Amino acid sequence: MKCTKCGGKAVISVLQHHLGLCKEHYLEWVPGQVARAIQKYRMFAKTDRILAAVSGGKDSLSLWDILHRLGYQVDGLYICLGIDGGVNYSNESQRLSQQFAAQHGLTLHVVDIPQVYGESIPQIASRTFRGRGAPCSVCGLAKRHEMNRLARDLGYDVLVTGHNLDDEAAVLFSNTLRWAGGFLARQGPVLEADQPGLARKAKPLCRMYERDMTAYALLRGIEYIYDECPYALGATSIYYKELLNKLESDQPGAKLNFYLSFLQAKEGGLFAPQADPDRAQMHPCPSCGQSTTAEGLCSFCRMMGGES
Ligand code: AMP
Ligand code: FES
Ligand code: ZN
Ligand code: ZN
Repeated sequence: MKCTKCGGKAVISVLQHHLGLCKEHYLEWVPGQVARAIQKYRMFAKTDRILAAVSGGKDSLSLWDILHRLGYQVDGLYICLGIDGGVNYSNESQRLSQQFAAQHGLTLHVVDIPQVYGESIPQIASRTFRGRGAPCSVCGLAKRHEMNRLARDLGYDVLVTGHNLDDEAAVLFSNTLRWAGGFLARQGPVLEADQPGLARKAKPLCRMYERDMTAYALLRGIEYIYDECPYALGATSIYYKELLNKLESDQPGAKLNFYLSFLQAKEGGLFAPQADPDRAQMHPCPSCGQSTTAEGLCSFCRMMGGES
């Protein structure tokens, strides 16, 4: 196959866009696509200070690389969760994030959960109701809380995460199976800081296939952690991703259409924010100041205070 742009030897075919691209044009095409999404969804401007949440994985490190190349002011945030899992998952992902920052002369903030709170994520999970089964829900809650806290305390204009199209389509699929109106109303490329204490959030890779981000990281020579979190095994989100990939292999572009037509329907008024009555009752947590729908303390502070 030949490169659609220069006629040279293509190293990748981007089926959903009917493109074949050589290495050079692929490494140009991906940042171009990301730049278009940033503009289309009005994510942020060149004058904004951006905080990229990096996990040491291919998506978030590639995102950091792309935003830096596009000329944005972007620092990184790594949250050490204290997860072991054979290869010492947390240590290795922190090392790779720090290595990337050093190689590119970028600033990385590190929050060490066991150091700050005295317990690792698996330890918190083992003593709370929320963590019974797997620590993923404890982990998600802690990550969201810490990302928000750091973005707000350090005065960043926007927090970006490396969620890709496969992540977003799987969440959309799960929300749609339950017709979860509130979640559907809030899902999108940008989450506005519409409540006190909440940071503005954006997902610049929301239209990029996971496969394409893997190819970007490999061709760009970014060293990232290949292992999934040891607790992710058997997660429902992985099952949904597999289902969507089956659909995609029969109908190239199906995942992208599913997500984009959802965004269009939302723009047309479906899942209007009124569908989310919980949000109207949000108030600042008396301990940390982040907005919460829970009565009294937010779920994170309650969890850290020993309640379940
Ligand atoms: P995940 O929830 O693991 O699929 O990750 C989704 C996104 O959250 C990643 O692309 C990162 O932007 C961010 N993220 C995940 N884990 C961490 C972490 N330990 N530290 C900072 N950001 C993270
Ligand atoms: Fe949080 Fe796996 S439990 S990354
Ligand atoms: Zn080319
Ligand atoms: Zn709180």
